[in-house]
Amino acid sequence: MTGGAGYIGAHTAALLRRRGYAVTVVDNLSRGYRHNVGDAPFHQLDLADTPALSALVAAIRPDAVVHFAAYIAVGESMRVPELYFANNTGGSLSLLTAMTRAGIRCLVFSSTAAVYGMPRAVPILEDFPIAPVNAYGESKVLVERMLPWFDQVHGLRSMVLRYFNAAGADPEGRLGEEHEPETHLIPLLLRAVLSGEPVTVFGDDYPTPDGTCIRDYIHVHDLAEAHILALEALFAGAPSNQFNVGLGQGYSVLEVIRAVESVTGKKVPYRVGPRREGDPAILVAGAGRLGRTLGWAPQYPGLTEIVRTAWDFARQRSQTK
Ligand code: UFG
Repeated sequence: MTGGAGYIGAHTAALLRRRGYAVTVVDNLSRGYRHNVGDAPFHQLDLADTPALSALVAAIRPDAVVHFAAYIAVGESMRVPELYFANNTGGSLSLLTAMTRAGIRCLVFSSTAAVYGMPRAVPILEDFPIAPVNAYGESKVLVERMLPWFDQVHGLRSMVLRYFNAAGADPEGRLGEEHEPETHLIPLLLRAVLSGEPVTVFGDDYPTPDGTCIRDYIHVHDLAEAHILALEALFAGAPSNQFNVGLGQGYSVLEVIRAVESVTGKKVPYRVGPRREGDPAILVAGAGRLGRTLGWAPQYPGLTEIVRTAWDFARQRSQTK
């Protein structure tokens, strides 16, 4: 697994290991945390180092690779796109090269709802036009576009998972969302509750019922489960495919604020500011393909439960700091 020291990677590694899979984590720790890896075998390595990566893949000979390692900040990708194309696109190409050399032919790839850009309708289906509006999304699209060629030429089958808004934490409170700087809504709202520092709502003049953006929040455990189902489908010989991973249910920023207030029992201090560049008004997954094809069924089908696990984690973290 690449990127196993990050938020979604660490949850997936933990779940895989609970299911009896042997997981080796590769991460350069540029954005992830060593403590997220726990006692899994770990190699600190940059994907850009193709010779070292090839040697490692050849030595481990994994049955499959689950590839999370990437930068994920949309805003940053519009300031330094070169970083995103080098790390996300170039890093993936290096990994595909190393896998091909070693004859590893199964890949689960972390993609994003950002590949759809400003969708023409919601819910978004997997065959909607791919039209990213930021460099982050494009850096993932470029990888998605390489994959069919690796399949055709090298027989490398892949499952592409396009995440909507990952949120929540391990219910036992050990793993949760920690980005520095944090840009994601739910952890920022929880921090605001704990610190009293107001959050800015990015725009309340969108064409939505309350004027704030609507997103499809999905619990990181359900996201991790999607990876395991994708892997198992590959092991069973399934052909390459692409899947949206979301609940198919949208919540506005103000609805998320209300959910945080009901879970924490505290007011969220916030003010309304201007729109953030590149934010689509509504992103909601048409997530039927994942359920139909892989049998995925979410354990956290509601926002309140998702926020509750994130709150338990945020509270615990603030006490240990
Ligand atoms: N928001 C605020 N204030 C904040 C932070 C966020 O109002 O301080 C709003 C955003 O405008 C957006 C919603 O909260 O409407 C969610 O924002 P996030 O930054 O948490 O998530 P995004 O939807 O922007 O991003 C997510 C993933 C990206 C992915 C993108 C696809 O984190 O990796 O979905 O569009 F690219």
